[in-house]
Amino acid sequence: MDEIVEAVNKAIDNYLYEKEPYELYQAVRHLPEAGGKRLRPVIACLSCEASGGELEDAIPFGVALELVHTFTLVHDDIMDKDEMRRGMPSVHKKFGENEAILAGDTLFAKAFEVISLMKDAEIVKRLTRNVSIMAKEICEGQHMDMSFENVEYVDEKIWLEMIEKKTAKMFEHAAMGGAIIARADENKIEAMKNYGRNLGMAFQIWDDCLDVIGKDIGKPVGSDIREGKKTLMYLYAYVNSDRKWLSKYGKEEYVEEIIDIFRETGAIDYAKNKAKEFSEYAKKELEIFEDSEAKRKLIELADFAVEREK
Ligand code: IPE
Ligand code: IPE
Ligand code: MG
Ligand code: MG
Ligand code: MG
Repeated sequence: MDEIVEAVNKAIDNYLYEKEPYELYQAVRHLPEAGGKRLRPVIACLSCEASGGELEDAIPFGVALELVHTFTLVHDDIMDKDEMRRGMPSVHKKFGENEAILAGDTLFAKAFEVISLMKDAEIVKRLTRNVSIMAKEICEGQHMDMSFENVEYVDEKIWLEMIEKKTAKMFEHAAMGGAIIARADENKIEAMKNYGRNLGMAFQIWDDCLDVIGKDIGKPVGSDIREGKKTLMYLYAYVNSDRKWLSKYGKEEYVEEIIDIFRETGAIDYAKNKAKEFSEYAKKELEIFEDSEAKRKLIELADFAVEREK
């Protein structure tokens, strides 16, 4: 998978060719150059290959998704007041909020430029429509996430809808897009779509766990608790405890105490198991694909999503 990441990094560098205004493009390049796992492009490329296409053909689409992803991170860190990302100061911390908003907008626009440069007009049309809808759904999910900060409890079903929109949709489109580029049958495109969505659900739930139990995750631990985020751990502890901790949630000085409560109530284990369930659903969707190296890597990724430590 390192080769895909390398090819994607090279392509990102080529597509972000603008130089002026200098400060704006410094801010635009800050996060892409800070690294990141490049999971969405890797999934798009592997899905394309596992669906019978050429891995390289999915690179521009993968880059487009990575640019949308980076855009959401830049704006997300403003909304979540997070000052670190990928082990570096977040864009708004380094360049100021206004420049970060613009850098995010620029990355978002660039994503569509990259898709428009793909050769097959029919595929460009389909991917453009898909990515537009995806972006809208991410905004809906982010809105839900923020609105949950101000309520005491949300139903798990609604919470799952929130992470489906803010995170899983992009994984869904990565996997589905790869199969579209490979010109796979519609049933295979559908299976990849389901693989991606379930993987994305697993990924976000596990990411929330890492916010509590992770080490060296490129940003401070406990940021969701500090910000009063409703995570699956919170919802579980809310239902399965005396709730005496409730007034401490969202306050810096009680982060450690809340982490202990999540541990003692079994909330962390509950969330981890839920993530593993989604990862299993993801893998099941791949059963209709012939065995290939790319398919095996997609299975590996579903495992990685619920085993990773950062
Ligand atoms: C971070 O995504 C945002 C979430 C969906 C949790 P990643 O963990 O894929 O971030 P990078 O790209 O590797 O930094
Ligand atoms: C991830 O949001 C989803 C988007 C950025 C759209 P989070 O707020 O959960 O992600 P992290 O924890 O900051 O990476
Ligand atoms: Mg957020
Ligand atoms: Mg965040
Ligand atoms: Mg997180």
